[in-house]
Amino acid sequence: MGLLCRAMIGENGGLVLPDTPPGIPFLAESLPSSPMVDTRTDLCGVELATPIVLAAGTCGYVDEMADALDLGRIGAVTTKSITLEPRPGHDPNRILDAKAGMINAIGLANVGLDRFLREKAPLAATVPTRVIGSVAGGSVEEYVTIASSFDALDDIPIIEMNVSCPNTHDGRQACDSPQHLESVVAEVRAAVSRSRLLVKLPPKTDGIVALAEAAVAGGADGLTMTNTLEVMSIDVTTRRSRLSRPRMGYSGTAIHPLVVRLVHDVHVGFARAAGVPIIGLGGVGDWEDAAELILAGATAVGMGTALYADPRSPNRVLAGLERWARSQGCASISELVGAYKES
Ligand SMILES: Cc1cc2nc3c(=O)[nH]c(=O)nc-3n(C[C@H](O)[C@H](O)[C@H](O)COP(=O)(O)O)c2cc1C
Repeated sequence: MGLLCRAMIGENGGLVLPDTPPGIPFLAESLPSSPMVDTRTDLCGVELATPIVLAAGTCGYVDEMADALDLGRIGAVTTKSITLEPRPGHDPNRILDAKAGMINAIGLANVGLDRFLREKAPLAATVPTRVIGSVAGGSVEEYVTIASSFDALDDIPIIEMNVSCPNTHDGRQACDSPQHLESVVAEVRAAVSRSRLLVKLPPKTDGIVALAEAAVAGGADGLTMTNTLEVMSIDVTTRRSRLSRPRMGYSGTAIHPLVVRLVHDVHVGFARAAGVPIIGLGGVGDWEDAAELILAGATAVGMGTALYADPRSPNRVLAGLERWARSQGCASISELVGAYKES
């Protein structure tokens, strides 16, 4: 990230915002918006006020970012990924400020389904934004149990299946083949009748279109692209991993061009024709990063790592997108989805 980190990872992986020292403003205050531009977007039948989505695991459980942001200007917040049992996550150290992003080995730390339903889910009714419920698990049965609990909640209209976490030994098992992914998604789909279902894919450099098609064949209404990139980082003095695991997830600036390519490939490869929306997610730090993902085919744009450097950056990104849409002669940001010109 290479920037002063203003936010920290708190208990169970949630985001903790710092007190702003008197007289020192956040790095970016929100810029004036353009009332002429329609910011609404349709994410598989659910209307979002804006295309900005806060990414799973980087914005707390539900309402934590309200201290820094007007959540009415955020299209949706995604919960921390929830598992059946509480998980402490991996031992420290589990986060590293890398040269062009962040490396983490959090390991799906979360309060578990029961406590989430008791303490966190009711907050979804109190925030002026949509809430996407992120589900993780070590077995198909675990995904099904959590997803069907989420399906009963009025204020969580969208469920996101995290089948792409590189920080647990089985976090990406379902993505080991398109056939496997299709069967796992189909079992969850059968348990979800009211909610829209998103599948969050890994940044797989080959075969991403087949994986995306399999998710949709299994019953996904949309895709989130992508999770972190599986990487290693070695301390040359100790000759051991810099974090508490040998393999970890890389996010932030460095993965952005890869994610633009993957979103484009899936959009052009089948999602555009099939009418399947994509949340483009990876390395968005400013409005141009977000605009690139929209041009590549993203209906909405996720932000994660950028929140740690500047928790208010989504305000700035949205204001920039509005100005950009107007400068492109568009009445709405959504007109620019997939508007990349090949030549
Ligand atoms: C500290 C941290 C924790 C994360 N936790 C989760 C998680 O619980 N569930 C999930 O689906 N993705 C998780 N992610 C991945 C992000 O949601 C996102 O897919 C990824 O960081 C790429 O976006 P970015 O470059 O904007 O951060 C986490 C990422 C970070 C940096």
